[in-house]
Amino acid sequence: MHNDTGQQAFDAIIEADEKVEPRDWMPDGYRSTLIRQIAQHAHSEVIGMQPEANWITRAPTLLRKSILTAKVQDEAGHGLYLYSAAETLGISRDELQELLHSGRQKYSSIFNYPTLSWADMGAIGWLVDGAAIMNQIMLQRTSYGPYARAMVKICKEESFHARQGYSIMMTLAQGTEEQKALAQDALDRWWWPSLMMFGPHDAESPHTEQSMAWKIKRVTNDELRQMYIDQTVPQAHYLGLTIPDDDLVFDEETGHWNIGPIDWDEFWATVKGNGRVSRERIAHKVKAWDEGAWVREAATAYAAKQRSRSESEKEAS
Ligand code: 3HC
Repeated sequence: MHNDTGQQAFDAIIEADEKVEPRDWMPDGYRSTLIRQIAQHAHSEVIGMQPEANWITRAPTLLRKSILTAKVQDEAGHGLYLYSAAETLGISRDELQELLHSGRQKYSSIFNYPTLSWADMGAIGWLVDGAAIMNQIMLQRTSYGPYARAMVKICKEESFHARQGYSIMMTLAQGTEEQKALAQDALDRWWWPSLMMFGPHDAESPHTEQSMAWKIKRVTNDELRQMYIDQTVPQAHYLGLTIPDDDLVFDEETGHWNIGPIDWDEFWATVKGNGRVSRERIAHKVKAWDEGAWVREAATAYAAKQRSRSESEKEAS
C-alpha cells in the first residue's frame, strides 16, 4: 500500500476510533512509539516482580504468602502478554531483552525503590498497582488493537492486586501502634514515587501530544495523575493515615485535591538509571536471563523436535 493511501487508511481508522491491527499500514513513528511504550510496560511488569518477591519468604501468614505469590506470578504473565503485543510490531523478545539489559530501554521508575518492610507490600499493591490500573484502564481504549486487548485481561487481575494491597494496609492501620506506624512509614516512602509513575507534567512531556493525536494515550499524564490523587487521598484518610504532603489541600471549587511540587530531579535521576536500587534491579534481571538460557534452549529444541516429528508423520501418511 502506498504511503498516501496507507496514511489515509490509517487516519480513517484513528478518526473512527477503531483499532489499528498488526497488518495495517502505520506511520513509522506510531510503530516506534508503541514498541517503546509496550516494551517499557512489559519490562516494568517483569522487573516489578523483584521488589515484591523480596517479601514472599517473609510474609506474616501462609495466606498472605499465597496471595503475594499469586500476584507476582500474575506480573510475569502480564509481561509475557505485553512482550507478545510488542512482537506484533516486528521486534523480537530477544531484541527487547538486549535493549533493556543494555540500558537502551527502560522500565517504570517506581521499581527502583527498595522494599524495606512488609507494609511496603501493602503500599505497592494499593498505590503502585492502583496507579497502574488508572493508566491501564485508559489503555484499554488505546488505538493499537493487540495492546488494547492485552489490557482487558491485565486490568482484571490488577484490581485483585490493588485490593490485596489495601487489605494489608487496612490490617496494619487498624492494628497495634507499631503496625500503624509501619503503614504510615510505607505511605511516606511510596506516595511521591507513585505520583511520578504517570510521567512528567504534560508541558514537559515530549510524547504526550503526538500520542494523544494517535489515540495511543486517551488521557494525558497530568489528567491521569489528578484522577489518581482524587481517588487515593480519601482512601488514605479512611485508613487514618496522613498523606506526606504539607501542601495537600482540597479545592472546593474544582473538587480536586491539590498537591505540593513533585521532585522531578529525583524522577529524572531515577529514570536515567540512578535510582536507589537501579543497578541491583538490572543486575538481578541479567543474571536471571543468563541462568535461564538453558531453559530457553531446551524449550526451543523440544519445539523443533516436535515440529520435525509432525512433519515426518504428515509425509508418512
Ligand atoms: N518511569 C520511567 N520512564 C518514564 C516514566 C516512568 N514512570 N514516565 C515517563 N518516562 C519516560 C518516557 O519513557 C519518556 O522517555 P523516552 O522519551 O526516553 O522514551 C520520557 O520519560 C518522557 O515521558 P512521556 O510522558 O513523554 O512519555 P510517554 O508518552 O511514554 O508516557 C507513560 C509515559 C505514561 C509511563 C507511558 O509510557 C505509559 O502509559 N506506559 C504504559 C504503562 C506503564 O508502562 N506502566 C508502568 C508500570 S506497570 C506496573 O506498574 C505493573 C503493575 O502490575 C505493578
